[in-house]
Amino acid sequence: MKLLITGATGLIGQQLVDKLFQEGHQIHYLTTRVSQIHAIPNAFGFLWNPKKGTIDPNCFKEVTCIIHLAGATVSKRWTASYKKEILDSRVQSTQTLLAGLRKQKGTHLIRSIVSASAIGIYPSDLSKIMTETIQVSPQTFMQKVVDQWEKEVDEFQSEGLSICKLRIGLVLTKKGGVLGTLKIPTYFGLGAAFDSGKQGQSWIHIDDLTTVILKAAKDNWEGVYNAVAPNPVTQTVFMKALARAMNRPYFLPPIPAFLLKMGAGEMSDLVLDSHWVSCQKISSHGVQFQFTDIEKAIVSLLD
Ligand SMILES: NC(=O)c1ccc[n+]([C@@H]2O[C@H](COP(=O)([O-])OP(=O)(O)OC[C@H]3O[C@@H](n4cnc5c(N)ncnc54)[C@H](OP(=O)(O)O)[C@@H]3O)[C@@H](O)[C@H]2O)c1
Repeated sequence: MKLLITGATGLIGQQLVDKLFQEGHQIHYLTTRVSQIHAIPNAFGFLWNPKKGTIDPNCFKEVTCIIHLAGATVSKRWTASYKKEILDSRVQSTQTLLAGLRKQKGTHLIRSIVSASAIGIYPSDLSKIMTETIQVSPQTFMQKVVDQWEKEVDEFQSEGLSICKLRIGLVLTKKGGVLGTLKIPTYFGLGAAFDSGKQGQSWIHIDDLTTVILKAAKDNWEGVYNAVAPNPVTQTVFMKALARAMNRPYFLPPIPAFLLKMGAGEMSDLVLDSHWVSCQKISSHGVQFQFTDIEKAIVSLLD
């Protein structure tokens, strides 16, 4: 297959590109940075500027599937202007892709789009298991962002594409992401959960996530799918597993929610919200997980 990837230079994108090359696929990718156009060996980079709605039309040439991962990181302080960027980067990039495709006036070969989404669309709940069939009624900032992002992706129906939205959980990778952030305090024996520590953490190992993305593209999945591993854990279990994997002590009590809210404001939702998310649908679509145990998953990613 020849695939067009947005966000290919990011945490998930880089690993996905490796996987796609291992399996013999060809890659076009869109980047907002001139410096990244030749950054991925053997892939072809094209420029776009979703803020201005511009896109290099050559990116679509001979492509049959789009994998849409682009979006400004949510792990940066949520000021009013940055919240706008979090939303705009997802909505405008989706709109720019679609407008670019429409300009091809039916001459393109693209049949499907697999788009990143996030489990942050689900309401926070300390015990309820979230499946794809649950009706969402967005209340929080993150829920509203993901909801609008998914609705924008649905617009590709007008071009006759099959649409798959992957509600991705906490992605565990070697560098960066949630482990990158938590490894530092844990290394100093300062790892701790927040609030009750009972919040559900629905994680997925990057190797399993790239398998899921590729399978969704190859098998033309349509609709919403949770991209999480089979065994979510509480935040306390997660933090203890990280400390054990790093051979570090774990003794601190959970940090009270009010302290976190004072420091991080609304962004504290990222660690105070609880998501117990089901992977049953992707399992029934043939995904076989390499990593189902949190500690083994973490150990595999530590140097
Ligand atoms: N990592 C997770 O745990 C996780 C969990 C759930 C959902 N997701 C979603 O999955 C997607 C990929 O995640 P990731 O962790 O790989 O993200 P990432 O490392 O932050 O990379 C995202 C990519 O998006 C592009 N980008 C950044 N700001 C942009 C903007 N304003 N307009 C257009 N493109 C922009 C960048 O590519 P260029 O600089 O090359 O343009 C960047 O490499 C994101 O949409 C994220 O919300 C991630």
